[in-house]
Amino acid sequence: MDFEKIAKQLAHPSGAFGIEVALGMNKMNKFISKTTYELLQVSNADRVLEIGPGNGKFIKDILNSGNNIYYTGIDISETMIAEAKKINDNLIKAGYVDLILTDVEKMPFLEEAFNKICTANTIYFWQNPSAVLKEVYRTLTKDGLFVISFRPYIKGQSLDFSEYGFTEYKSEDVEAIIHQTEFKIIEKREQIESPIEFNGQIHNLTSQYYLLQKNYC
Ligand SMILES: C[S@@+](CC[C@H](N)C(=O)[O-])C[C@H]1O[C@@H](n2cnc3c(N)ncnc32)[C@H](O)[C@@H]1O
Repeated sequence: MDFEKIAKQLAHPSGAFGIEVALGMNKMNKFISKTTYELLQVSNADRVLEIGPGNGKFIKDILNSGNNIYYTGIDISETMIAEAKKINDNLIKAGYVDLILTDVEKMPFLEEAFNKICTANTIYFWQNPSAVLKEVYRTLTKDGLFVISFRPYIKGQSLDFSEYGFTEYKSEDVEAIIHQTEFKIIEKREQIESPIEFNGQIHNLTSQYYLLQKNYC
């Protein structure tokens, strides 16, 4: 397996290979994406922001959680924004979904624009995690909820992408970053996922979820 090529695509899917890698992510990350959405407790009239939805295959699940839900997805990859627009064409035309090409560190949104924010499997690529959390804090309403999920680094189990621009985190690393911000952790979950077959191999994956709120909630 060409680790370097795959790591680059996971960070920033592009071109035909990026589209293919995103389909693989849909399979490998279905559980973590859907669990993240469930924990976000989306309901009627919520304004939801997702950071790094990839091809946006599961966006419809968020919209199906209630009525008058408005979803915005931001991604740094032109290829992923184009794919997500194709897959969610009807929801965009209906005015419920907006997809924007931007870096999470420079989000073009007003303060408190969203009351629900989530991200799955993007923390590994953040250049400056404190700056990202500051941006999320700025754009989240006072009583809003932020769910961040990732696959924690487990020695001997995780694929080692660290030499290729990935930062792999253990829960204590993520908690240390959160503790530098004004967010408080309201819940932490760990899920041992069902074994999943991919490329002829069985993967045993663990995922972690942090539910965060502003400190004065
Ligand atoms: C590993 S994929 C995860 C996709 C999806 N959330 C999932 O779990 O299958 C990471 C996604 O985050 C996007 N991304 C990486 N760095 C980003 C940044 N700085 N700002 C916005 N999106 C970013 C990538 O382009 C990619 O679509």
